[in-house]
Amino acid sequence: MDMKTLPRHRTLSRRILGIGAAVFLGGLAAGCDSGDKKGLTVGFSQIGSESGWRAAETKLARQGAEQRGITLKFSDAQQRQENQIKAVRSFIAQGVDAILLAPVVSSGWDEVLGEAKAANIPVILLDRQIDTPNVDLYLTAVTSDTIEEGRVAGRWLAGKVQGRDCRIVEIQGTVGASLVANRKKGFEEAIATAPNLHLVRTQSGEFTRAKGKEVMEGFLKAEAPGSICAVYAHNDDMMIGAIQAIKEAGLKPGTDILTVSIDGVPDIFKAMADGDANATVELAPDMAPRAYDILLAYRKDHAPPPKWVQTPSKLYEPDTAAAEYARRKDLY
Ligand code: AHR
Repeated sequence: MDMKTLPRHRTLSRRILGIGAAVFLGGLAAGCDSGDKKGLTVGFSQIGSESGWRAAETKLARQGAEQRGITLKFSDAQQRQENQIKAVRSFIAQGVDAILLAPVVSSGWDEVLGEAKAANIPVILLDRQIDTPNVDLYLTAVTSDTIEEGRVAGRWLAGKVQGRDCRIVEIQGTVGASLVANRKKGFEEAIATAPNLHLVRTQSGEFTRAKGKEVMEGFLKAEAPGSICAVYAHNDDMMIGAIQAIKEAGLKPGTDILTVSIDGVPDIFKAMADGDANATVELAPDMAPRAYDILLAYRKDHAPPPKWVQTPSKLYEPDTAAAEYARRKDLY
């Protein structure tokens, strides 16, 4: 795929030339590489704002664009794939230079990404992957290793309960999202090594606090009092809802019921500092700024980036929680 380097009003005629002349235009783009970052217009199709983490990703996308002189066209899809497909088509019609897509679900993207490719507009996937036989439909994906996130959480729990028999409930993320199957797979892989760990219930909390609370209330009603040893949530926001439900059931979260979740949002660090939570696996929210730097480098040297750019997944526990809370509370 080639990066457009020409003034917008002449884009259409160039686009017809686009594919055939990609290599030739590459020279032009290189010619424009005077370190000038201005003029890059990027469309970002964001899933919505279901969690503190997603709000932080959006905030850093805006800040990162400003810092690099990039014009950002932002679209909030309210959790709906059809809105994202509409947004991508609108970005193509506007002739943007590149598109960032955080795909709410993993399937159903080939057609619209084919249109972006035909229009010579590179697409970078953020924080979630897509299922496609044709990886050339996107330039690269900036995501964490979402299977490893589950493994880290499962290994932590196995280490924490030290052979004690432990019945676990799981609050999954949005059904159909790539990372949900992965975070589940990694966790199950890790606990399979410990015969004392039993995953007894699982349900989607749609990555929101309200739904996380509701699901945990259901688990507490369905299970005999004191029979739940731990809860694993695919994100911190659902866990914060679950912690509320545990407290309202008269139990002590972090003690009576262990907690492990994913994201690293400030409120989970506060909960850990207060003794109400035990562990979180951080998901780095600065995925858009990483994507901008990939696009700017690609614009410069036209060397395609690796198909996957992995972000770190670090485990945090209460010992550093107060300091981490102080460090992050203004970011989200
Ligand atoms: O895709 C990343 C996930 O989406 C985050 O873990 C979660 O908070 C968000 O909803």
